[in-house]
Amino acid sequence: MLNIHGKELTVPLLQGGMGVGVSLGGLAGAVAREGAMGCVSTADVGFYDPDFRKDPDGANLRKIEHEVAKAVELSEGNGLVAVNVMFATKLYGEIVRASIAAGADAVVSGAGLPMELPSLVEEGEALIAPIVSGARAAKLICKQWQRKYKRFPDFVVLEGCKAGGHLGFKREELLEDNCESIEETLPKLLEELKPFEEAKGTAIPVFCAGGIWDRADADRVMGLGASGVQLATRFIGTYECDASQEYKDKLIQAGSGDLRIIQSPVGMPGRAVNSPLLERVKENGKEPITYCYHCLKACNPSVAPYCITKALVDALKGDWENGLFFSGANVDKLTEMVHVKDIVDEFRR
Ligand SMILES: Cc1cc2nc3c(=O)[nH]c(=O)nc-3n(C[C@H](O)[C@H](O)[C@H](O)COP(=O)(O)O)c2cc1C
Repeated sequence: MLNIHGKELTVPLLQGGMGVGVSLGGLAGAVAREGAMGCVSTADVGFYDPDFRKDPDGANLRKIEHEVAKAVELSEGNGLVAVNVMFATKLYGEIVRASIAAGADAVVSGAGLPMELPSLVEEGEALIAPIVSGARAAKLICKQWQRKYKRFPDFVVLEGCKAGGHLGFKREELLEDNCESIEETLPKLLEELKPFEEAKGTAIPVFCAGGIWDRADADRVMGLGASGVQLATRFIGTYECDASQEYKDKLIQAGSGDLRIIQSPVGMPGRAVNSPLLERVKENGKEPITYCYHCLKACNPSVAPYCITKALVDALKGDWENGLFFSGANVDKLTEMVHVKDIVDEFRR
């Protein structure tokens, strides 16, 4: 049993948020039901709403409330339901508030430093947790949260460079495969967190993410002081995952040689399966953008190589020609469809 600031997990496992729409209420609720922490990705979830083009903000907020409530209901009171809110999202504050109103137990936030997160979430309302790639970012966040809000993270996700989606590493480090490993970063992060844990009066659990696959991986990082692990790519191969079967099949068929490090319009590198869209962008430098959803704080459609929202929504629907299929480095281990319970059971202690 892992108690995080009064909230309990019976399995020290988090399911990483996966946008756009790969982890919604179905997956998050199934993970929570097994006693772990499920996570609804809030990135552009409103795309199925008929008003998404006319009113993307309203459509997103309605859908977030719906998916969080669905996850809470599916959880049957077990585990915890988190939301993943990317700091780069334009409606950041509104999304955090809508998620809490719908019953989220935790707000997990990365893709930038969530310096103002405590101002959006009252102490005791929900757990707050940054996703960091290194010890320095964690220190900066903790210092600011302590100084400005007298608050501290309830837990921290340490995401290494083997993760899928956007990555908090330099493109060159990723291409040359010489990023610091989670095992190297973790002791430094635990050291940086110590004074803040003392000031807080309780531990700040760290969950390691990025290339964590099985129980042996979890045992290794937990032996170094992590409180648990976060998995994302492995959950794509589950019946409960909210992506289309075509998305799941593409990842099941892909091997590590099919992966590419891309430069995302979000301004960060990312890892994805090589696809016709990426080939066209490589060839032509740009894919025409016919419509802008104004979803990101910093995205200029006149210079962006393609519209990331459209590309991720197309992938979710299984459109191989036009989709952007994010994946973690461990894609070659994803070989069959399983149930969420099969994965979570492996991490029970
Ligand atoms: C398809 C996909 C989409 C993702 N989308 C997001 C996202 O929207 N926000 C985020 O913080 N992380 C995102 N991630 C990162 C995961 O939450 C997670 O931390 C990471 O992938 C863990 O590594 P693993 O996939 O090797 O288990 C995504 C990962 C994948 C594979």
